[in-house]
Amino acid sequence: MIKSDAPVGAMDSGVGGLTVVQNLRRILPGEDILFYGDSANCPYGNRSEDEVFELAMSMIRSFEREGVKCVVVACNTMSAIIERIQRETELKLFSIVESTSRYVVKLGLDHVGLIATERAVQSGAFDRTFRALHPGFTLTANSSHELAGMIDRGTISGDELEKEIRFCINKIINDGEREKIILGCTHYPIALESFKHCYPEIEFINAAEAQALTCANWLNDNNLLRRGHSGKLCIKTSGGPEVFSRVCTLLDISQDTEIISVSKL
Ligand code: DGL
Repeated sequence: MIKSDAPVGAMDSGVGGLTVVQNLRRILPGEDILFYGDSANCPYGNRSEDEVFELAMSMIRSFEREGVKCVVVACNTMSAIIERIQRETELKLFSIVESTSRYVVKLGLDHVGLIATERAVQSGAFDRTFRALHPGFTLTANSSHELAGMIDRGTISGDELEKEIRFCINKIINDGEREKIILGCTHYPIALESFKHCYPEIEFINAAEAQALTCANWLNDNNLLRRGHSGKLCIKTSGGPEVFSRVCTLLDISQDTEIISVSKL
């Protein structure tokens, strides 16, 4: 039996998922949120599918022990294998790949660019999800080996980051998409200003809000919204607290937030 006063779980390979948590806090101010950011093992996007699965399952087992009421998978790389993870747990999981695809198709678009991690792009999950919703949809994708790791280590602006952004986005432009590009890794919106600085003419799409709304609707439909309570955020990370603290300040989610470093998630 799921209790309405249990926390909402959210997870990522590192700080990126806080871009989703920012929206969860705004849309669901009464909910306590328990966030896992596995920075010791970040980036997940350069790992094999089996490795990502094992790391994801370790966090899922912790969420089961903590008794969360659902888990927002605030990571495209883990969301790319969500069916495999969902088969192993009774917890309700929300995929950001699914939320992003629904959001983009609802905007009436039939083509878009995508920048994401290597694992997320190679998995074909975005292609499959878009085509299921809109058979004629065209996705022009490229991956980055470096960006998520750089941002997770605290490089959220500057020349080195912009060089990598240009290297990845130029390929998408050369392949034909020059209007709208999905930021298909939750780390990337942390560096949105750098993306915009490099490409002021491109609209970068971040579906963090859409995913938070999907979770909010599910809680509402299942009578699980927490009322009469002021929500707190507990961040557990296998890395150090410094970058999490900086990103919380940047995203304005430092109030009623505690950051705890743990040896393993
Ligand atoms: N933030 C993650 C994502 O959305 C993963 C980044 C990584 O660890 O590679 O894909």
